[in-house]
Amino acid sequence: MTINRGRTALITGISGQDGSYLAELLLTEGYVVHGIVRHTSSLIANTSRLDTVYQDPHETGRRLFLHKGDVTDAGMMVNLIRDIRPDEIYNLAAQSHVRVSFDLPEYTANVTALGAIRLLEAVRASGIDTRIYQASTSEMFGTTAPPQDENTRFHPRSPYGVAKVYAHWATVNYRESYGMFAVNGISFNHESPRRGETFVTRKITRAVARIAAGLEQKVYLGNLDAVRDWGYAPEYVEAMWRMLRHDEPVDYVIATGRAATVRDFAEAAFSHAGLDWREHVAHDERYERPAEVPELVGDPAKIEREIGWKARVHWDELARIMVDADRKALPGGA
Ligand code: NAP
Ligand code: GDD
Repeated sequence: MTINRGRTALITGISGQDGSYLAELLLTEGYVVHGIVRHTSSLIANTSRLDTVYQDPHETGRRLFLHKGDVTDAGMMVNLIRDIRPDEIYNLAAQSHVRVSFDLPEYTANVTALGAIRLLEAVRASGIDTRIYQASTSEMFGTTAPPQDENTRFHPRSPYGVAKVYAHWATVNYRESYGMFAVNGISFNHESPRRGETFVTRKITRAVARIAAGLEQKVYLGNLDAVRDWGYAPEYVEAMWRMLRHDEPVDYVIATGRAATVRDFAEAAFSHAGLDWREHVAHDERYERPAEVPELVGDPAKIEREIGWKARVHWDELARIMVDADRKALPGGA
């Protein structure tokens, strides 16, 4: 912890799944952590995932600072980065839901693609020396067959995937053009009890908990044949941090290397609660996508070799972790 004391990090998307775990990690490592949170009409800010680390603004010696902002506002980003002068910046902010991106393609591009370029330009404008992590994604590989690694061709299949390809190449371009320490972590799907409730793993594990408690009977899903390489989010934020502490700015795939179908995940989650998934999973075509990404399985050999990071939790254990957490979270849950 002493080694990082005094280091300052800025996290966009700090209120999200990854942002909250990353904030916890960096605070544990001695950092001062700044995060951008969006304005909402109903809450002071959407900080429920940060409950364990939230510090009252009136506390002395505080190391977590939340700033109202939005990655669609360039001026705000320049001013904040100039004032904070962070040693490390993690760009996690995104409209990150693939299905939603088909309904909101322009908005998704503005946040997820242009948000990255605004951040890179804000760093240039403020003239600071900082290291930048861009949250790239396996969704960029789209239809290209697995196993996917750092050299695999991109063929995105959604407005979200297209936006992330733009942000990915912008990050490479600023590294090459201006010598910035700017890197892409090409993360495969990673989940946790803090996963948004409309992503498929969490949708399933929440349903398992509610069905086991007798609160509902069915969960409606789309394509059960999709294959995903699901890892555990707290481990993935450690990979992000270690990439920025690396000697060289290098892009890495972050993955477990093992995969399963949505059907397999549902079966594992239901059976962990003593239930038969076939009695509770029904199909609803509303959850199908105009274009699907059929199979994502990462090859994490490069990050294992060069950074020493290796996934420990795989999809079946993840299903159990998430079911246990969702059952515990219900009123009266054990
Ligand atoms: P998430 O839970 O959806 O969090 C997204 C974060 O971005 C939230 O804090 C959200 O704020 C914030 N945000 C959205 N629009 C914003 C805007 N206009 N200005 C500022 N902040 C904004 O996503 P995640 O799972 O933590 O993923 C983190 C990043 O990694 C994302 O960029 C995602 O695309 C990428 N990624 C994720 C995975 C994965 O499997 N989880 C895999 C590959 C890449 P609110 O809380 O206010 O909504
Ligand atoms: N969300 C959802 N809801 N997905 C479903 C459903 C359903 O009811 N039924 C089947 N699926 C299938 C989707 O069609 C997809 O093939 C798979 O389950 C996973 O869907 P999501 O959990 O929504 O994740 P994703 O793979 O589309 O995107 C996530 O991972 C990307 C990395 O590959 C997101 O976190 C992205 O932000 C991330 O970049």
